[in-house]
Amino acid sequence: MKTILVTGGLGFIGSHTVVELQNVGFDVVIIDDLSNSNISVLNSITEITGKKPEFHRIDLRKKQEVKNFFDTNTIDGIIHFAAFKAVGESVQKPLEYYENNIGSLVYLLQEMRDRKIDHFIFSSSCTVYGQADELPITENAPIKPAESPYGNTKQIGEEIIKDTCKANNLNAIALRYFNPIGAHDSYKIGELPLGIPQNLIPYVTQTAAGIREELSVFGDDYNTPDGTAIRDYIHVVDLAKAHIAALQRLLNKDNKNNFEYFNIGTGTGSSVLEIIKAFEKATNQKLNYKIVAKREGDVTAAYADTTIANRELNWKTEKTLEEALKSAWEWQESQK
Ligand code: UFG
Repeated sequence: MKTILVTGGLGFIGSHTVVELQNVGFDVVIIDDLSNSNISVLNSITEITGKKPEFHRIDLRKKQEVKNFFDTNTIDGIIHFAAFKAVGESVQKPLEYYENNIGSLVYLLQEMRDRKIDHFIFSSSCTVYGQADELPITENAPIKPAESPYGNTKQIGEEIIKDTCKANNLNAIALRYFNPIGAHDSYKIGELPLGIPQNLIPYVTQTAAGIREELSVFGDDYNTPDGTAIRDYIHVVDLAKAHIAALQRLLNKDNKNNFEYFNIGTGTGSSVLEIIKAFEKATNQKLNYKIVAKREGDVTAAYADTTIANRELNWKTEKTLEEALKSAWEWQESQK
């Protein structure tokens, strides 16, 4: 039985990945500092899987604490989610983002090098492509200058991992997520945004629930069929399963290079207006919305070419957009 360390394992994507890891028989150790997550998620995971993951509250910026953890735990692989993720906030607080997202990554990789721990999965983002010149976006699309310090931490993170893999014989995979949404079928875990949601789907569900008065649609004069921006919304459970596939690829030594990266999306783009309509249809809710100005830094359209991920990871999405939107709504309703 392999033991996998999941950093940020109580967060949105992390918690869903812990469930899937346990479902296929991995032992899971979670590190989380609870800065953007709730300790109650640990019990929710346990209720779903029947097995309580080991949990350590550690701030990965504290190098000595990281060292102490590895002194007392034997780890076969790491899935690293722990990071700050608010694009707008990163523009206001770049140093906090660089310290947390880059510092923690470096400390983890140093421990892996020093203790000869292999197998690293990194949470990257389609933000590395910026506004891609061609759609759908393949892994061969050029990396564009980052629009935000957050985006830059993902680009720099990938570079750091690539260099470390080369120098220290480490095997790693970066997964470039498109837009993760939805919640586990049990509705015991889901997205828990702090304060006013910045992302579309939590804003949609909170508006439908009456917590927010009205959804603002950021721009309807994009160069798209209905004028609103297009994204690739992927069910978080499908995304979680991509991590299992990537981990198994490394454990089975099926990887073709010691650093690889894959697009994790559905391959289908949806506009903001299409999302609103699909949400209303999937949930029978009426959504108040108005068109407002574009949000700074938003690209017109981004959706994945998933051919390489489907083939190499032997993985594909199984859930529909409707299922994802419905689960996001059921999760919202379960929060009452
Ligand atoms: N949008 C609205 N109203 C809102 C919120 C969002 O119209 O209240 C629109 C945005 O303009 C965008 C789409 O909905 O067109 C999706 O916005 P999100 O904020 O949900 O997602 P983003 O695509 O902007 O950001 C996501 C991740 C980031 C990541 C980025 C990469 O949240 O972490 O994808 O493109 F960097």
